[in-house]
Amino acid sequence: MYSEKVIDHFTNPRNMGEPKKWDAVGKVGNPVCGDIMYIYIKVDKTKDTIEDIGFKTMGCAAAIATSSMITELAKGRKLDDALKIGRDNVADALDGLPPIKMHCSNLAADGLHKAIENYRTGKPEGESKDEVITQFTQKVGLKRDHAEKLWNAGIVSLDELFRLHKEELLRLPGITEDLADKIMEKGGQQH
Ligand code: FES
Repeated sequence: MYSEKVIDHFTNPRNMGEPKKWDAVGKVGNPVCGDIMYIYIKVDKTKDTIEDIGFKTMGCAAAIATSSMITELAKGRKLDDALKIGRDNVADALDGLPPIKMHCSNLAADGLHKAIENYRTGKPEGESKDEVITQFTQKVGLKRDHAEKLWNAGIVSLDELFRLHKEELLRLPGITEDLADKIMEKGGQQH
């Protein structure tokens, strides 16, 4: 089912863990399975390149292999080039992923992009749990306990919430048909 490269990166992950020094971290969650990934970057400011990179992933074999691979693809690259690394590049570099596991490679690409965005916006750790929960309650109109459940299920930003399809929303804890419609409606207004 998995290519040799996936197995290699899963059993022997590269750049695993938090680098000693880092400038920003991208945290992303996968609502399909509840897995969470952190991608840390250290930036060479004069060259605008990724000088060092690391990851922490609580997830499946494909999530770990894609995290490992994306760190190899991004290391040494200009930030603008690293932003162009997408899920297909990660999957191709791993000689493919089973179709059911493609969402895992999406997580790695999103984590890297988020880290770069956080670096550029000067918010190294992105939004805190409290900030995100406040956005869920104020901008979407969710109750606090619903908002907390979403956060705990790995939805760690408003963007991630708005990216979900209705079927995915309905799989989340405490999300009823009405709430899913409300989120879709607000998300539609946002984008
Ligand atoms: Fe969770 Fe792959 S199943 S990231």
